[in-house]
Amino acid sequence: MEGLEGDEDATAVDRLLRWFAREGADLPWRRTRDRYAVLVAETQLQSTQVARVVPYYVAFMGRWPTPADLAAAPLGEVLARWQGLGFPRRARNLQRAAALVAEHGWPPAGRLTDLPGVGPYTAAAIRCFADGEDVLPRDVNADRVVARRFPRGWPGAPGRGWEAGQAVMDLGRTWCTARAPRCDSGCPMREGCPAAAAGTVAAVTPPRRAQGRYAGSMRQRRGALLRELATSGSVSARRDAEAADSLVADGLAGRRGGRLVPAGAGR
Ligand code: ADE
Repeated sequence: MEGLEGDEDATAVDRLLRWFAREGADLPWRRTRDRYAVLVAETQLQSTQVARVVPYYVAFMGRWPTPADLAAAPLGEVLARWQGLGFPRRARNLQRAAALVAEHGWPPAGRLTDLPGVGPYTAAAIRCFADGEDVLPRDVNADRVVARRFPRGWPGAPGRGWEAGQAVMDLGRTWCTARAPRCDSGCPMREGCPAAAAGTVAAVTPPRRAQGRYAGSMRQRRGALLRELATSGSVSARRDAEAADSLVADGLAGRRGGRLVPAGAGR
């Protein structure tokens, strides 16, 4: 980026970093630069809001502090501790990724997406939040902040990639929200914001990634069986045969006779 507009964007990033230094949230995954811890946190944060993730993250890292610990755990216990976060396949992939890392070490930064469940977002998050690289992890929230405040493109934050990435997350959660952005109630990035100046904040909000209705869905039915499994240790597969088949097919539960049992306990 060249010229005055590039300078303005760089100045705006400076302001964002100063705001983050004063007001950034103190979150447990911000006290580590460990790749595994970042992988756990960012996987949990993909499906669930920050405040809800905190206790899950703390418990998870307390129970399985290293990739080898997680790799050795029974999948049923991992899923039980994931209960309430949703998207149990993410937990299974996380464990598979941990097993690969425990056995072979971490892939180089450019190959992180070789790990199960690690897409471009999570790979960028590991590079930024663990390795300190100046790459912005782009989830829907970061996309929205960039589209509104930096329509010419994210200018980067040389040497301050970690702070900038975390700051964008906080700005997107607290001020530059999807449905009720608080531009004129003291947003720290309001000055010089192209979308706020043009009155187009809502118009440049990227659409939410589609997520089907939960009530009555197979996701919900599978979730109900997994919840029962986590509390009771087994559940009749006849309760919902279709959902039971689908959990077994995905390796998220086992089968013993006519009963569903925790993954890894069947056979
Ligand atoms: N959402 C996704 N990643 C996050 C992070 N590191 N901090 C806060 N919110 C997030």
